[in-house]
Amino acid sequence: MRLNRKLEHIEFSLRQKNNEGATGFSDITLLHNPLPQLNWDEVDTSCAFLGQRLKAPLLINAMTGGHPQLESINRSLAAAAAAAGVALAVGSQRAALEDCSTRSSFTVVREVNPHGVILANLGAGCTLAEAKEAVDMIKADAIQLHLNAPQELAMEEGDRKFRGVLENIRLLAQNLEVPVIVKEVGFGMPKETIRRLVQAGVRHIDIGGAGGTDFIAIEQARAGKEAVYSWGIPTAVSLLEGLAEGNHDIQLIASGGIRNAIDSVKALVLGCFLVGMARPLLEIVIQESERSLIQYLKKYIEEIRRLMLMLGARTVQDLKKVPVVINGPTYHWMCRRGIP
Ligand code: FNR
Repeated sequence: MRLNRKLEHIEFSLRQKNNEGATGFSDITLLHNPLPQLNWDEVDTSCAFLGQRLKAPLLINAMTGGHPQLESINRSLAAAAAAAGVALAVGSQRAALEDCSTRSSFTVVREVNPHGVILANLGAGCTLAEAKEAVDMIKADAIQLHLNAPQELAMEEGDRKFRGVLENIRLLAQNLEVPVIVKEVGFGMPKETIRRLVQAGVRHIDIGGAGGTDFIAIEQARAGKEAVYSWGIPTAVSLLEGLAEGNHDIQLIASGGIRNAIDSVKALVLGCFLVGMARPLLEIVIQESERSLIQYLKKYIEEIRRLMLMLGARTVQDLKKVPVVINGPTYHWMCRRGIP
């Protein structure tokens, strides 16, 4: 059942249409800087993450593994991450914990990308021993713990027990030797959740907002049903919720429906640390090739560089000083929620 589900997630996610505008980034305008006082060669898109240097603040977010047919996809994602100098997360390693024969679909990422930043991935209800095994399996630099209650509830065979997850996250954050990154899978997080995670000792949070891949719709489609409503907090809004906590010790990752360099730069200007993308990258590997993905990522980083120059930002840190105007539903949301 789990093996087929992995393949079906890919198949049904690729059928999803882009939901333009649903992330909230169209409400955000960056102020053009006619006097950037910079040369092209001076602009530096690199950033530090988990003690290493990335060529750009980008993450190929968790997607797959756990089936023999998926090894080649993970191989390509890892090779592209290495060539472009960005971070990579593997999909949930649950299958490999239960069936050793599927481990190579995960371990391949370390083989082809021995020095890159690689993140392990399991559901946030996993045990400490499972989390340690997932990290060791791929010599991960950190582990993503995913929160996905809406997806589980949309699956007939899905989990129904969500009590105690926060306490478990606290235990894992205290006892693992690598950092814990708590992530949503496309439904976003309000500031109250972010506060509770920070109180539990978490310092890295991927707000995984709505507007991109929709896992309720994917699970409904797998069951032959139509999705009747959309659910979740749009990505830009969820990022602003997280930033409203004003905690400079936490690193927020923005993901969910990010499809172009301008939305990535908007997220960085608002204050995220890293931008994550999932489905569009999978689509390129499956429908085109590993080479196309490498070219795509390199072009994407050049586009970020161009935008940085037009904004007068020499470094990724400088982006945080760029003036920004927030309009529309995102502005009203901020007023209603008391977000400055
Ligand atoms: C995912 N995602 C995901 N997340 C996770 O934490 N563990 C997982 O195993 C998976 N599996 C998975 C499979 C497929 C086919 C897709 C497309 C996505 C969720 C992913 O990491 C991300 O949070 C969402 O897809 C939202 O980002 P995008 O796709 O809108 O950029």
